[in-house]
Amino acid sequence: MLYIGKMTRKHKKKRSATKASCADRYDLYLQAVQAPEHEVPFFDRVFRKAYGRPASILREDFCGTFAVCCQWVKGRPNRHAIGVDLDPEPLAWGIKHNLDKLKPVDRTRIELLQADVRGNQGRRADVLAAQNFSFWIFKTRDELARYFSAAHKNLRRQGVLVLDMMGGSESIEEDRHDETEHEDFTYIWDQARFDPITHDCTFFIHFKFSDGSELPKAFRYDWRFWTLPEVREILLETGFKHVDVYWEGTDPDTGEGNDVFRVRNHAPSEPAWICYVVAHK
Ligand SMILES: C[S@@+](CC[C@H](N)C(=O)[O-])C[C@H]1O[C@@H](n2cnc3c(N)ncnc32)[C@H](O)[C@@H]1O
Repeated sequence: MLYIGKMTRKHKKKRSATKASCADRYDLYLQAVQAPEHEVPFFDRVFRKAYGRPASILREDFCGTFAVCCQWVKGRPNRHAIGVDLDPEPLAWGIKHNLDKLKPVDRTRIELLQADVRGNQGRRADVLAAQNFSFWIFKTRDELARYFSAAHKNLRRQGVLVLDMMGGSESIEEDRHDETEHEDFTYIWDQARFDPITHDCTFFIHFKFSDGSELPKAFRYDWRFWTLPEVREILLETGFKHVDVYWEGTDPDTGEGNDVFRVRNHAPSEPAWICYVVAHK
């Protein structure tokens, strides 16, 4: 026994760490998926357009690592942010990596709630943002209506709920993988399953690295693929007075989205689109 043990240790290959084994999935997600520096000016713009004054309190539902809260308070000294998420893991990551990058004075203007977004804890907000399709976790009209009613209560008398939506024929193609190259990694959006009868879908995010290593299924989403008319109707049924769809313009040279979102009542049927939905209290 002793002999075999010694042999094993002696002949064991020394494994060098792969890029995947050193990677941090929240950091990769932040780089590949989120753009708080684009979101925050949009939230500011739609609130000003609705009420003619700047917003001060932002509530970020499904906040994860609450990058948007951090960007919000950095922008102006009278801004406050409330981040709400059920999961302590991304909240703890955000405290270590995002909150720590802020000036101490800015940190004090963020409140974090480890709670269900359907609760009514915390101060009422001017802008309530639920980004990256997170509300698709609610799969029935009743569940979604319960969330929108809670969001309505969590807004001040003048307030906007800002959601994002995606759609188009490509976004419901089952088994479709879209890859985006980043400097140090490849981001893969995997549309593993879409059920046309229930609109239940399962999507994954994977990451691949230049040394061939991979971080498969870094994030998994089991959602209902909601459509714009359904969401608008449920928002109006739950008490929102008015709902605008902000549609993205097209760059004439590339034919791609140009990151400029304007209110539209009608839009061309594009194969893949994202838009904002802004509901006014
Ligand atoms: C797709 S991530 C969104 C992260 C980030 N907001 C973004 O825009 O990329 C969804 C987050 O929602 C949280 N979540 C799911 N259901 C929730 C609920 N009922 N209440 C609060 N948070 C919830 C999860 O813990 C997860 O961190």
